[in-house]
Amino acid sequence: MEATGFDLSDLSDEDREFILDAFGAHSALLFRDQTLSNAELASFSRLFGELDVAPDNQRNKAVPGMPEVYVVSNIKGDDGKPIGSLGAGEAIWHADMSNRENPPYATLLYAVEVPPSGGDTWVAGMFAALEDMPDNLRTKIEGRFIKHDGTYNSGGYVRKGEEASDDPLTCAGTLHPAICAHHATGKPVLYLGRRRNAYVDGLALEDSESLLDALWAHATSHDYCYAHRWRKGDLLMWDNRSTLHRRDEFDPEHRRLMHRTQIRAKATPRAA
Ligand SMILES: [Fe+2]
Repeated sequence: MEATGFDLSDLSDEDREFILDAFGAHSALLFRDQTLSNAELASFSRLFGELDVAPDNQRNKAVPGMPEVYVVSNIKGDDGKPIGSLGAGEAIWHADMSNRENPPYATLLYAVEVPPSGGDTWVAGMFAALEDMPDNLRTKIEGRFIKHDGTYNSGGYVRKGEEASDDPLTCAGTLHPAICAHHATGKPVLYLGRRRNAYVDGLALEDSESLLDALWAHATSHDYCYAHRWRKGDLLMWDNRSTLHRRDEFDPEHRRLMHRTQIRAKATPRAA
C-alpha cells in the first residue's frame, strides 16, 4: 500500500497511529518523496519497535556511529572497499535473517541514491500465498518444520564464521514452523525464508526437495508479488515475517545507496 501525504521526519500523533494501523493491515508500505537524515530514519523506524544493530563483524557496513542503520550499496569508498553489502548482483528470494532463532519483525529500506534502471525490489505476500495454497500442498506442510539455511546470505556469499556447505541435512541453520501464527495477529502465514539448503524436517531429502520446489513455485508466483521501481526518497517497509523479498541486479557502473533498519521481533516464530 502506498501512503501519501506524510513527511516521516515530522509526524503528528495521529499520523503515527494511522501508519501503525496501516502496517498492521498491510504487509508492505511505501512512502515516496522523503528526505530523511540517518537519525530521522532511525527515529521513524523506532515507531515499530526496538531496532536491531549490525552484528560486530558487519559494523563496517553500517553508517559510521550508527550501528542500527545498515548500508546496502555497491559503492566503493576511498580505500577501494565496498561501503555497504550486497554489491550490484541479484539477491534471490528470502526473508531477512530467517536463519536466526528470532528473525526481525520488519525491514525498512530508504533510497538515498538509485540507478537509472534495475535494482527493483520485489515483495511477495505470504498470507495470500497460504490462503490460496491447494489443499494437497498445504496438508503436506501442516505441523512440519523447515530448516532455514545459515550458510549463505541472499547474495550467495558464505556468512562470516560459516563453512561453505550444500548439504541441507548437515548445513548450519534453524528450524521454524512451515505455517506460523503471525506474532501480531495470530493469523496463519507461510514461512519459507530461503530456498537454498532448505529442508523439510523429517522427510527423505528427495521428498523434501520436491515439496520445497512446489512450495516456492507457488509462493513466488506473480499473483502474490509487488515489484518496486525505486525513486530517490522512497521508503519501502515490509513485514519480514509475512513476506519474502528479492532484488534485481543492476549495472555495477551505476551507484545505488540504500539505508536499512530492522525492527526486532518480540517473539520467535511459533506454529499456527
Ligand atoms: Fe533482504
